[in-house]
Amino acid sequence: MKEIVVSGIRPTGNLHLGNYFGALRNFVKMQEDYDCRFFVADLHALTTQPDPKTLHINAKNILAEYIAAGLDPEKATIFVQSDVPEISEMYLLLNMHVGIGELMRTTAFKDKARKALGIKTDSVSESDDEAIEHQIIGTESNKRVNAGLLTYPTLMAVDILIQKASKVPVGKDQEQHLELTRRFARRFNSFYNTDLLVEPQNFNFGAAAVKVPGLDGSGKMGKSEGNCIYLIDDEKVMRKKVMRAVTDEGPKVPDSPMSEPIANLFTLLELTSAPDVVEHFRRAYADCSIRYGDLKKQLADDIAAVTAPIRQRIMDIQANDEFLSRTVSRGAERARAAAADTLAQVKQVMGIKKF
Ligand code: TYM
Repeated sequence: MKEIVVSGIRPTGNLHLGNYFGALRNFVKMQEDYDCRFFVADLHALTTQPDPKTLHINAKNILAEYIAAGLDPEKATIFVQSDVPEISEMYLLLNMHVGIGELMRTTAFKDKARKALGIKTDSVSESDDEAIEHQIIGTESNKRVNAGLLTYPTLMAVDILIQKASKVPVGKDQEQHLELTRRFARRFNSFYNTDLLVEPQNFNFGAAAVKVPGLDGSGKMGKSEGNCIYLIDDEKVMRKKVMRAVTDEGPKVPDSPMSEPIANLFTLLELTSAPDVVEHFRRAYADCSIRYGDLKKQLADDIAAVTAPIRQRIMDIQANDEFLSRTVSRGAERARAAAADTLAQVKQVMGIKKF
């Protein structure tokens, strides 16, 4: 029996290089050897209250981008989270074993709560935590942190646990959520004295989880940071973004330490370019002969080599409604069969029985 793999991406916009190198690239490789179940996390997208008009369009975009990047519905199960209602039911059940405190302490929750409440993310401090707690409890504000945002990790844990997945390919930003998933599984198993739930591990073919940086000098590439290169970006647009990436005035003495913006450019180069190319620029940096313009041009060429073939396929697949709906209805059927099994077992151990 093949090991089970689960992962998903929220339909909050088009996929960027962070999603690709952090997750999707591994999805495509893993479908060859594992029992893979990849989904569009539309219920998770609801935690940030998207416009109902765009939610479905975005979900369709992600599906098309999955397939354009190489996911094959003949090899992997591809589905939409909301097509598997068993997930929502188990989410309710698992929440009975999850503490409000541990949810409030997760980094992703604190970041998103800060955004929802209009507290600046770059001033992360203890007093912010207190401000968040105050405003969460206070009622006069029309800015609200919804309960779905708080219980986001429970829903994510259920996505994984309901399929009994042992491997979860995700980027570094999701590691804390995976840690919680393992903790919830352990807690459930020990409370009911069972080994029903499987503790999953992050997977990146033996390497550490990836954090793709943005082009603005600091932090990760992210939709809400406005620093993304999208798979769908026209080549000219992509090149412009790369050429405008933040740099510094260059190394003045040999073997200088790298500033964050330059280290970020090297991280992107390592993800997209051949090892000898990276080595060439590393040497040039070390002996102060580097020209950032050359590095950026090389980076843009190598990004184009990854994204151009994907971009061309996205449009065709998006236009094929019949193929997409066939793919997800078959995917949902398979995902539901496994989910219904686990849900029935969970209910059984929790003492929920039919009269
Ligand atoms: P989401 O939609 O934010 O991101 C999808 C995937 O892309 C990865 N990623 C990155 N990796 C490296 N560098 C970056 N800059 C970067 N930006 C995004 C994320 O790590 C992720 O793998 N909670 C999840 C979706 C989810 C899920 C699940 C994942 C819901 N249920 C069950 C796995 C299993 C999320 O919000 O990902």
